[in-house]
Amino acid sequence: MSVLHKVDVKLSGKSYSIHIGRGLLHSPGQFVPFSLKDRSLFVLTDENVANPHGLAVYEGLKATGARSVEILAIPGGEQSKSLSDFERVVSWMLDRDVDRQSVLFAVGGGVIGDLAGFAASVVMRGIAFVQIPTTLLAQVDSSVGGKTGINMPQGKNMVGTFHQPAAVVCDMDTLKTLPQRDILAGYAEIIKYALIDDPSFFIWLEGNGKKVCEKDPEALARAVATACRKKAEIVGEDEKEHGRRMILNLGHTFGHALEAATGYDGRLVHGEAVAIGTALAFRLSVRMGLCAEKDADHVVRHLKDIGLPTRIDMISPSLHDAKEIMGFMVHDKKASSGKIIFILSRGIGNCFAADNVRKDDLEAILVHSMKKG
Ligand SMILES: NC(=O)c1ccc[n+]([C@@H]2O[C@H](COP(=O)([O-])OP(=O)(O)OC[C@H]3O[C@@H](n4cnc5c(N)ncnc54)[C@H](O)[C@@H]3O)[C@@H](O)[C@H]2O)c1
Ligand SMILES: [Zn+2]
Repeated sequence: MSVLHKVDVKLSGKSYSIHIGRGLLHSPGQFVPFSLKDRSLFVLTDENVANPHGLAVYEGLKATGARSVEILAIPGGEQSKSLSDFERVVSWMLDRDVDRQSVLFAVGGGVIGDLAGFAASVVMRGIAFVQIPTTLLAQVDSSVGGKTGINMPQGKNMVGTFHQPAAVVCDMDTLKTLPQRDILAGYAEIIKYALIDDPSFFIWLEGNGKKVCEKDPEALARAVATACRKKAEIVGEDEKEHGRRMILNLGHTFGHALEAATGYDGRLVHGEAVAIGTALAFRLSVRMGLCAEKDADHVVRHLKDIGLPTRIDMISPSLHDAKEIMGFMVHDKKASSGKIIFILSRGIGNCFAADNVRKDDLEAILVHSMKKG
């Protein structure tokens, strides 16, 4: 076991640490900032992750002197972030001996993290939970910020809470079983932190991005630690998402609209939509005279080198209706008072929020990205 990085997150007067390393899964108790002795512990995981990762955590917890350890594996995928799965998880805990001292461990991607976090925040009026994210996206995104929630028929993440974990454990070894497409999708979120306000991280990624995507554990751990540190810094300035935190939406106004326009049919995973969205945000910034074309080219080249899509015409089959995509932007829940907020750029490492994008500029950028380039 080796801990390579530790990132301290201080939010709402509550602090916790993100432990990043290798082989950490086997002794999860070591990272929890209180004794697990005599407590009843719960491990929520999904069926794709249960063996070997969920079971490794389960076995590791049995050695802590806990009163009991229970494990539940639900089906993998976004459809498990539902009200009925929430009920199943809460009932599972209530039917066993959950009490205020119990701890829920989430072993899986963002779906398990969001569902477990939500259940932990309300069962017995709130118990401790520990995140053990097993996708790159969850390691760099869901492990900081304390957002929990489930999807409703009315929309994604419509019901949820803010509930900070007691600890987060990111074990690079869990990523060995993660499909390459999900590694790249996580990378799209990592590069976001560099583009927002950290040009030196961008330079590092240019030199080491390939290693990260080839799952080199040291490179991965450094990228995860830097991304988590950045997110913690930004979220710390704006915990409840009133202002500064919006900057994390770089590539997402476009990305969410592209995901919606494909009907979530598998043509795009979230990170791929964000990668195209990031390229579009830079192209739009160039068109508005804010950003030098060479910076946008630079970003697009790096995304391409890594193997991420950068244009709408790379979606297969592609999308052809710019107006339809724009329609989905208006419905994005982050559009405040009818105005669509875009994160634009004055250059690599210099992004800001704007609500004054003209429709014709937007349409021109979308149309251009749909033409075979
Ligand atoms: N709370 C937050 O701040 C936050 C931030 C970003 C995203 N999210 C949420 O996270 C979810 C997306 O997260 P995700 O991409 O991790 O999705 P996910 O949890 O559905 O995982 C993706 C797929 O990979 C599988 N998987 C997970 N780990 C694996 C591993 N190590 N090896 C093999 N397969 C593995 C899962 O079973 C699933 O099929 C969305 O619901 C999104 O809303 C939350
Ligand atoms: Zn995202």
